[in-house]
Amino acid sequence: MGDSSNKNFGLMLVLLALLFCNQLVAQIRPPTWPDVPLPEGPIRNILLDNCTSCHGIDDYAFFALDSAEWEAMLAEKHEGDSQVTISSEEKAVLISYLSSNFGPDSIPFPRDYVPPEITEFFNNADARIFMEVRCISCHSLDPIMSSRRSPEGWRVLLVSERERGAQLNDEELERLAEWLGRARGINLFE
Ligand code: HEC
Ligand code: HEC
Repeated sequence: MGDSSNKNFGLMLVLLALLFCNQLVAQIRPPTWPDVPLPEGPIRNILLDNCTSCHGIDDYAFFALDSAEWEAMLAEKHEGDSQVTISSEEKAVLISYLSSNFGPDSIPFPRDYVPPEITEFFNNADARIFMEVRCISCHSLDPIMSSRRSPEGWRVLLVSERERGAQLNDEELERLAEWLGRARGINLFE
């Protein structure tokens, strides 16, 4: 008898430990990252040949700099790194790509958005009304309802829309990203 209650106690400890670990994992969720598509044209191979061996290109979206600032920042970040070498012709194309896509007029992606867990979810009517209120001061719902993205893709988009001025708190942002991921998701079978 003592034996089996010991076993039960052991099992309970294991379950508690698992629950605790789950909570830890939830707490250390990483911040949301921007998504920069690999561009077409000559710049594509310049990036692939010189820039993608150590880290991806998504972090370019954290910056909004002019040509001189891009050049200075890249020099500073890679100072003393003999592996980052690029011909001056390629560098000119690179700096022009960076300053026209992530220039002073663009809105830098925030580094610190960590998605909260949500417990309430939008139904179709809620989502529609919410977007009528929060989105159409700037544009119609067409660009939203005519595109499809993964839930993470919608989250990244909504974080950018908020930087542009859309009024969304973190929970609202997650609720809308979750609904869009369902209603305007990437479903291969549709
Ligand atoms: C040999 C490895 C290596 C290569 C190749 C490389 N980088 Fe980096 N890059 C790094 C490291 C390491 C850092 C982080 C430096 C720091 O933050 O102190 C960095 C940082 C950056 C940052 C800042 C990232 C951030 O989030 O703050 C940008 C932008 C960047 N690199 C762009 C480029 C571009 C454009 C190229 C191609 C010309 C390139 N990198 C090639 C190693 C590399
Ligand atoms: C403060 C103004 C503003 C608000 C509010 C706003 N947006 Fe936008 N949104 C923009 C601008 C500017 C663009 C870029 C339009 C263009 O490229 O012609 C855009 C583009 C978009 C696109 C197309 C992006 C792409 O790359 O295809 C989507 C989708 C979108 N917005 C969703 C939303 C949603 C959802 C909301 C409401 C939560 C919202 N927006 C609210 C300013 C706003």
